Amino acid sequence: MSESLPSLYFDLADWWPMLSSPEDYAGEAAIYHRVLVEACAVSPIEVLELGSGGGNNALHLKTHFKLTLVDLSPQMLAVSQRLNPECEHIQGDMRTLRLGRQFDAVFVHDAVSYLTSEDDLLAAMTTVFVHCRPGGAALFCPDETLETFHPYTRNGGHDTSDGSGRGLRYVEWVRDPNPGDGRYVMEMGYLLLHGDGSVQAVHDRHVFGVFSRDTWLRLLTEAGFIPQLIVDDNEDIWDSGGGELFVGHKTR
Ligand SMILES: C[S@@+](CC[C@H](N)C(=O)[O-])C[C@H]1O[C@@H](n2cnc3c(N)ncnc32)[C@H](O)[C@@H]1O
Repeated sequence: MSESLPSLYFDLADWWPMLSSPEDYAGEAAIYHRVLVEACAVSPIEVLELGSGGGNNALHLKTHFKLTLVDLSPQMLAVSQRLNPECEHIQGDMRTLRLGRQFDAVFVHDAVSYLTSEDDLLAAMTTVFVHCRPGGAALFCPDETLETFHPYTRNGGHDTSDGSGRGLRYVEWVRDPNPGDGRYVMEMGYLLLHGDGSVQAVHDRHVFGVFSRDTWLRLLTEAGFIPQLIVDDNEDIWDSGGGELFVGHKTR
């Protein structure tokens, strides 16, 4: 990783479900399901997800597919394992993973946004190509493209319902301190309410890569895919600039 990943996915992974609630993913997961089915020559059954994090999309997609979930972080895999015990979980880096088997489709959600160079993005696309069966397809969902990026501030968070008394509130501040360098940052502040009533404040910096649509389509072609851009304009679903989905069709 050219940038270190935020603490949210390691020391703080246990707080993830209070930051990003699985229920909130139902709408977008329905779109990913439809796009994956339409992109494959035959309706997919075995699906690999790279950068599956806490497994929030997987919670919804597993009702349609047999999922294998891969993430860099053992702590995030443990969170997902609790939510999706019936799914196979594997620790790995999407740039270098080689499982020695293929799937009907491969899904890469927002984790791809943490790749900050074209070399890393192409490496991840190559991993996806290698693990996709001919006739299958890949779906990549970056948070932003160069064309959609805009600065914003947002806040949110949830309480636990397990009686522990824990809760989290966050503010995220998305900005582009060095325009033109192919990266932007999300400064996140978390207020962590512990079970004993004490509150802890944490600052966590997320560094993202951002690429133009043309770069996405060119790199997908270099990886071996027939590329396709799908722009979904459902504003109820995409709460940042998103809604730009990149599909790679594997024909050979
Ligand atoms: C925002 S979370 C993903 C949440 C996920 N979309 C869900 O539905 O729960 C981002 C994840 O990307 C993972 N990640 C970042 N870089 C990665 C890489 N190179 N390979 C695999 N996973 C990676 C992090 O460990 C983290 O768990």
